[in-house]
Amino acid sequence: MTLAEARIRHQELATQIRGHDHAYYVLAQPKISDREYDHLSAALLQLESQFPELTTPDSPSQRVGGAPLKEFSSVTHESPMMSLDNTYSQGEVREFVSRLQRLLPDETLDWVVEPKVDGVAVSLRYEDGVLVQGATRGDGIRGDDITSNLRTIRSLPLRLTDPALPRSMEVRGEVFLPIAGFRRMNEERIAEGEEPFVNPRNAAAGSLKQLDSRLVAKRPLSIVLYGLGNVEGGNPPGTQEELLGWIRRLGLPSPVRHWRCQSIDDLLAAITELDRVRKEFPFETDGAVVKLNSIDLRQQAGTTSKAPRWAIAYKYETEKARTRLKAITIQVGRTGALTPVAELEPVFVAGSTVSRATLHNEDELARKDIRVGDLVLVEKAGEVIPAVTEVVLSERPPNAVPFVFPRRCPECRSEAVKVTRQDESEAGAAWRCPNPDCPGKIRGRLEHWCSRGAMDIEGGGEVLIAQLVKAGLVLDPSEFYRLKTSEVAALERMGERSAANFITAIETSKSRDLWRLLFGLGILHVGAGVAKRIAKRFRSLDDIEQATADRLMAVPDVGEAIAQSMVAWFQDPTNRQLVARLRSHGLNFKSSTFSELSAGGVFQGMTFVLTGTLPGGVSREQASARIESLGGKVSSSVSKKTHYVLAGEDAGSKLEKARQLAIPVIDYAEFLKLAGDASTPD
Ligand code: IVH
Repeated sequence: MTLAEARIRHQELATQIRGHDHAYYVLAQPKISDREYDHLSAALLQLESQFPELTTPDSPSQRVGGAPLKEFSSVTHESPMMSLDNTYSQGEVREFVSRLQRLLPDETLDWVVEPKVDGVAVSLRYEDGVLVQGATRGDGIRGDDITSNLRTIRSLPLRLTDPALPRSMEVRGEVFLPIAGFRRMNEERIAEGEEPFVNPRNAAAGSLKQLDSRLVAKRPLSIVLYGLGNVEGGNPPGTQEELLGWIRRLGLPSPVRHWRCQSIDDLLAAITELDRVRKEFPFETDGAVVKLNSIDLRQQAGTTSKAPRWAIAYKYETEKARTRLKAITIQVGRTGALTPVAELEPVFVAGSTVSRATLHNEDELARKDIRVGDLVLVEKAGEVIPAVTEVVLSERPPNAVPFVFPRRCPECRSEAVKVTRQDESEAGAAWRCPNPDCPGKIRGRLEHWCSRGAMDIEGGGEVLIAQLVKAGLVLDPSEFYRLKTSEVAALERMGERSAANFITAIETSKSRDLWRLLFGLGILHVGAGVAKRIAKRFRSLDDIEQATADRLMAVPDVGEAIAQSMVAWFQDPTNRQLVARLRSHGLNFKSSTFSELSAGGVFQGMTFVLTGTLPGGVSREQASARIESLGGKVSSSVSKKTHYVLAGEDAGSKLEKARQLAIPVIDYAEFLKLAGDASTPD
C-alpha cells in the first residue's frame, strides 16, 4: 500500500469510527457490534503503525491515552473561566431577575434553565474542527493542560465536521462520571482491595488529575458542553438556546434538557420541574443554572470580579438529616482494611432509613473531628452510600472526646499496619489488619464469595455468614459445599425452609462461569473485569493456576501488579488446597467464554521477529506471549515472510536485514497499538 492509498483508507476508517463513537456514546444507538467496532479500531491502529505520519491528534487512536506526563503544563485561558454566584431560595431568584431588569431597563428578558451537572469545569479549543487543547479551570485565569486525558472521553468528538465551523473556538462544559459508571468503578476498586471514591465528582476530578492518560481511558468519564469562550471566524449563535442547538448539531454532547423561560413564574416552574426530573438523570446534578438567553445582552450586563451578572446557580437542597452518633465501630474488610463506621440513631434520609454511615478513614475522621455523642449531619454521597458530612458543634456534649483510631484490629487484636495510598483518591493513609486468619477477613471473604457480582449465592449475607463463622461451620468458601441443611437450620433464627433454600443456592453456584469463581477468590487487584478477561484467555482454572506472570500479562489490562498478585496467590499452599477442595466439590473450573484467539486474533497469520532490548523491562518472552495470544508467530530470523520486526534498543543486524527487505520496523509503542493494548504492562 502506498502512503497515498493508506491515507485514503485511514480517512475512511477514522470517519466510520467517529460515526460509531457518536452513535454509541452520544446517541446511545449503536449501529454495529462491539466486535465489528474492535475490528475497525484494530485496522486503524495497524495502518498507523505502518504509516506513523497518519497518527494525527484527532485520530480515534488517541482515545486509548499516551505515555504518562511528568506534570501538566499550564494554560492561560483566552477569556477567564468564571464561576457562578449561588442562590438557595426562590426569593433570591426573583432578586436576580429584578436586578438584571434594572440593569437592562428597556429590554424584554428571556432565560434558559439548564441542569447544573456536578463535575469538573473544562475548556476545549477546536481549531479548524480539530480538538487541539483541553484545560481545567484552575484559578480561572490559568488551568492545567489535560488534553490527552480529555481525548479519552468517548463521547467527545476529536474532530468536528460541520461546514460552517469557526476557524478557532473554545467550548466550555463539565466532565462528570455517570452514576452507573461511578458505582461500577467503586465496586471494582473495593473488589481489588482499593479504597472507593467518596462521590462521582471526586472520582471525576481524581481521574482528570491523572498524569497517565491510559488510566484515564479506563474511567467511564463523560462530558456535557454548555458554553462558548473565544471564537474566531464563523458566526457564533446569538442566544443560549441557539448555542445549545448549535452544540448539538456539531455532534458535541449538550445538556439533556433545558427550559426557555419568559417570566419569573416560568423560571421558578422550570427550577421545580428540574428538581423532580433530575432524580431520573443518569448523572448527578446539584442545582439549576439560570442564564440570560441573549448573548448580546450579557455583554451589557457584564461581570463582577468573580462571576457573570447574567447567570446564577440555584442550588437544590441535598437531603440531609440530623441525628446522634451513638458509636464509632471499626469494620474489617476482606482485605483487612479497617474502616471507621458511624453507628447512628436511625434517621430517614433521601428515601430510606439510615443507621450506619461510612466515616471513610482515620484522616477524614480527624479532619472533621467527629466524636461519639455528636449531633451529626448525614447525607447520601453519590445518592447511594450514606456518609456523615458534618458535626453540629453547638450541640456537642461537653464530655465528648476526640476519637482515637485503634492501633489493633478490633476482630483479632493483631497490630494494624499502615499502608500509604499512592493513587489519586484523596483518601489518606489506611490501616490494615495483617492477620490472614482474622475472623473479620474470613467473613469478608465469604461475603464476597456469595456476593451478587461473584458466585451470587442468595441468602449468603452478612448475618448468616457471621453465624456460620461463629459456629465454626464455614471458614473458607469450599466449606459452603459441605454444609448440611440440618446444620444451617440449627442456627438461631433460621427455619428449615430458608436453610434448604440456602443449600440449593449453594448447589446452583457450582455451575457458575469461571470468571465468577476467579473473582470470588478475592485475589488482590483481580476485579470482575480482569477476571472476565483472564477467563476468556484461559481454558480452565487449572490453566490459570499454572500460568506464569508473562502469560498472564499477555492478557489486555493485566499488568505486572495483577500478574504478580495472581502468581503469588496460586503459589500459596493454603490457596492451592482451597482450589483443590473446590475442585473436589465439583465446582465448574472450565471457561465457557474461552475464545481460541489463535483463530481470529489481530496477528492471525503474521510473523514477527524481535530484536534489541524492549523498553520498560519487558522481556522477549512477554512480547512473544502477547504475539502468540493474538494468533501471530515469532521467528528468530528476518526473511521475506516476516511481517514486522519489533525493534528495541541496540537492535543489530536484524534491523539491517529488515531494511534490505523493506520489512516494516516498529517500536514497542507501535506494537502495543497494533495489539490493541491500552496500556503497557506496568
Ligand atoms: S455556566 C461563567 N452551565 O457550575 C460560568 N455551569 O457553580 C458559566 N456547571 O463553573 C458556567 N453545569 O463548572 C454553567 N449547565 C451549566 C453548568 C455549569 C455545571 C458548573 C460549572 C461552573 C459551576 C458554577
